[in-house]
Amino acid sequence: MKRVAFYDTKPYDRESFDKANSGEYEIIYIESKLNLRTAVLANGCEAVCAFVNDEMNAEVIDELYKIGVKVIAMRCAGYSNVDFKAAFGKINVVRVPAYSPHSVAEHALALLLALNRKIHKAYNRTRDFNFSISGFTGINLYRKTAGIIGTGKIGRAFADICRGLGMRILAYDPYPAKDADFEYTDLDTIYEQSDIISLHCPLTAANNRMINAAAFSKMKKGVFIINTSRGALIDSEALLDALNDGTVRGAGLDVYEEESELFFEDFSNTIIKDDVLSLLISKPNVLLTSHQAFLTEEALKNIAQTTFKNLDDFFSGASLPNEVCYQCDTGKIDECRQGKQGRCF
Ligand code: NAI
Repeated sequence: MKRVAFYDTKPYDRESFDKANSGEYEIIYIESKLNLRTAVLANGCEAVCAFVNDEMNAEVIDELYKIGVKVIAMRCAGYSNVDFKAAFGKINVVRVPAYSPHSVAEHALALLLALNRKIHKAYNRTRDFNFSISGFTGINLYRKTAGIIGTGKIGRAFADICRGLGMRILAYDPYPAKDADFEYTDLDTIYEQSDIISLHCPLTAANNRMINAAAFSKMKKGVFIINTSRGALIDSEALLDALNDGTVRGAGLDVYEEESELFFEDFSNTIIKDDVLSLLISKPNVLLTSHQAFLTEEALKNIAQTTFKNLDDFFSGASLPNEVCYQCDTGKIDECRQGKQGRCF
C-alpha cells in the first residue's frame, strides 16, 4: 500500500478523500501546512498531497526528495507555490486542472451580487431588527460591461454567467480562445471600459501585481474588482488607495497576496499584524472570503477522484496528462517530453 502525506488537512478534505480512496492508499492526514519545518512528516511516504498555501520552494523540494517522496499531487488547479525548476528530474508534480470551473465562477458572481446589493450589510442589519435600507443603493448589472482577464475554464464559465445577466463581455487573454463568442481586446481597453473587472488568469512572474496603481489610474470610476484567482495579481496597497479615492466601488476578494499564513485558520482571538488586510476588511465595500471559491460538493468529489487517478497513473508507470513542469508551464511545450513520452521527465 502506498503512503501519502496529506498536508493542510481540513475535515471536508478527509471526508471526500476517504470516500474516494479505493483502499490502495494509506493517507497520513497532517493538519500543518507543508514547509521546511513540516516536510519531515512525509517520512515513509512516496507521495505528498498539497494545496494552495503549502510551500514547495527549492529547500522543501530537496527535503522531500531526500526522504523518498517521488510525486507531489496538488489537489488544486493553481501551482504558483511550486518551484518547478527545483522539482524537475526529482519529483513529478501532478495537479487537478479542472474540477468544477462553475464552483469558482459562481462564487465570483456571489461576491459581485452581494457587494453590489450590500447583502452582507443587509444581513447584519435585519438580524438586529434594523430594517433601514439607507446606503444600500446598487447598480443594475444589465447592459454593464464585464471585463474578464483570463478566459480559460473559469473565465469562460464566468462570461456565460455575465451574458445571462445581460452584460456586455470584454476579455483579455494572451491565448484567446478560437471558439469564443465574446470580444477580445487589450488590457487598457478592459480597464477603460469595464464596470466590473474579474480576474481569472494564473499568477505568473510576468503578471505579479498587474492590477497596480497604473492599472487603477486607467479604470472607470466606480468599477467593481473581483479576484477569485490569486492574491498577488493585485497590489493590495494600490487597491486600498483606489477604494479610498472612489475609483473602486467595491472589491470582492477570495484571495489575498499574503494569505498563506492566514487563510483556512481561525484567528478570531488573535491580533492580526497585517495592517493592509485589516484595513481592507474594515471597509464596508470590501467582501473578503478565505479562498473558498472552489468549495462545493461537486468540486471536492472531482478533486479527490482526479488526485487518486493522478496517483494511480504515476505509480503504474502510465503517462501523466495532468503533470506540470517548468517547461510546459512557461510555454516551452515543445521542449517538454510530456506530449511525446507521456511524462515531463
Ligand atoms: P485555465 O488554465 O483553464 O485558464 C487560465 C487562462 O488564463 C488561460 O486561458 C490562459 O491563457 C490565461 N492567461 C495566462 N496568463 C494570462 C495573463 N497574464 N493575462 C490574462 N490571461 C492569462 O485555468 P482556470 O481553471 O480557468 O483557473 C484560473 C485561475 O483560477 C487559476 O490559475 C487559479 O489561480 C484560480 N483558481 C482559484 C480557485 C479558488 O478557489 N479561488 C480555485 C481554482 C482556480
